[in-house]
This record gives sequence, C-alpha cells and structure tokens, in this order.
Amino acid sequence: MKELLHTLQIQLAGKAIEEQFSCLLEYFPGRISFSTSLGQEDQVLTDIICRHSLAVRIFTIDTGRLFYETYELIDKTRARYNTIIEVYFPDHQSVERMVTKKGLFSFYESVENRIECCHIRKVEPLGRALIGVSVWVTGLRAQQSANRQDMPLLQWDEEKNLFKFNPLLNWRYEDVIDYIRKNDVPDNPLHRKGFISIGCAPCTRAIEPGEDPRAGRWWWETSQKECGLHK
Ligand code: ADX
Ligand code: SF4
Repeated sequence: MKELLHTLQIQLAGKAIEEQFSCLLEYFPGRISFSTSLGQEDQVLTDIICRHSLAVRIFTIDTGRLFYETYELIDKTRARYNTIIEVYFPDHQSVERMVTKKGLFSFYESVENRIECCHIRKVEPLGRALIGVSVWVTGLRAQQSANRQDMPLLQWDEEKNLFKFNPLLNWRYEDVIDYIRKNDVPDNPLHRKGFISIGCAPCTRAIEPGEDPRAGRWWWETSQKECGLHK
C-alpha cells in the first residue's frame, strides 16, 4: 500500500483539485466518497464536485442534534446542485439507551460522556458510511488546528483501511471565503453570526473576534477539540 500511496502522491502533486479527483477516480471508480458537514470548506468541495460532474458520492451524518440552519442548508444544497446527499443517522438503539440512561445533555457532564455521545452519533455512522469505500474525501485544512497541521494531502488510514484525501489541506480560511463569494456557494447563515466551525448545536457556540476558530466547539472542555472522526 505504501508504494501505491507514494505513486498517487506524486501524481496528485501540483494538480488542480478537479484533476486530482479525476486522477483518483481512474484508480478507484465508484469508490470515492466525500463526507460533508455542510461547513464552508465542505460547501467548496461540493461545488467543485458538482461543477465538474465528478463521480464522487456525497454523504452527511445527521447526529440528530444539528442546527436548524444546517438542516435547511442540506436541502438548499441538494436543490442548488441537483445532487444527492446521502444522510446517515446514528443507530437508534444506541441513542435510545444513552439518552434514557443519561438524559439529553450527558455530554456536558464529563469528557467520557461527551466521547460516548460523539461515538454513537458520529463515529459509528461514519464507519457504516465508509464501508466499501477506497478514498474518503474530507474538507480538513491544516490551519484549523494543531492536530491537523501535519496531515498530508493523501494519507493511508490504517484503521479504516482506505485512503483519506484532504484536497483543501493548504487552503487558508480567506481562500475558502473567497471561493464561496466568487462562486455564490450557499453556506450556513450562522457563519455571519460568529460561528466559524459548526458541529452539533448544543456543542457549538459563536466565537469572539481573535479567538481560535475552533474555540466554539466543545467550549467547556479545555483539551479536547476533536470528536473522534479524525484520529
Ligand atoms: S469535527 O471532527 O470537528 O467534527 P469538522 O467539523 O472540523 O470535524 O469537519 C472536518 C471534516 O469532517 C469535514 O470537512 C467533513 O469531511 C467531516 N465531517 C465533520 N462532521 C461531519 C458530519 N456531520 N457529516 C459528515 N462529515 C462530517
Ligand atoms: Fe453529541 Fe455533542 Fe458530539 Fe454532537 S458534538 S455527537 S451532541 S457530544
């Protein structure tokens, strides 16, 4: 796998994003999937995928706790691009067990509970969504956090047994905003209300100017700023 990774990395280098997708599609036809949270980076990728009619499957995970605005944006995006966005839900029995035992806001009570909720509502459905997938596309950017700075454009994910492709890796936030403006890409109105990184409603707050872009995610926790989707 190392050899193929190396070959692909060389082939992708210096190419425009749509050409990188085309290159990967030659190797893995029908086996490339993009996970969208409907965040601004992901909206850019949806625009690129649809604009170039790339045969990339698009899916999102509905944790059951998303913002109303995010739900509206899912439908708006489907309509705008006339595309399918597959929606994955958490396993209902796991959610039922958790909320019956611990209530609807257990994630505020301990890091352990928070990780449990993220696992049930996000990580498990992601695993199902990625069954049979060879290339998982994300909207991750290196600048987003210290954890993400060392990520490569294309990496081999040993645990998931697939390639992970992060085409916007080296984009700055300004590049994302610029693309959205120039191409009239629909995005979440919450971005105009101080929200930069948007996840589940009870676990995301607006940030103040100058604050870390991810400061509004799980803001009551000091160290954890990841939910386990990206290890
Ligand atoms: S998170 O790990 O903190 O939740 P973040 O919001 O930064 O992730 O998003 C990073 C990438 O993870 C997105 O570009 C997207 O590929 C994926 N992602 C995050 N949340 C979801 C979701 N609900 N559904 C599908 N993909 C998601
Ligand atoms: Fe649960 Fe919050 Fe994680 Fe969403 S972000 S899955 S509500 S703990």
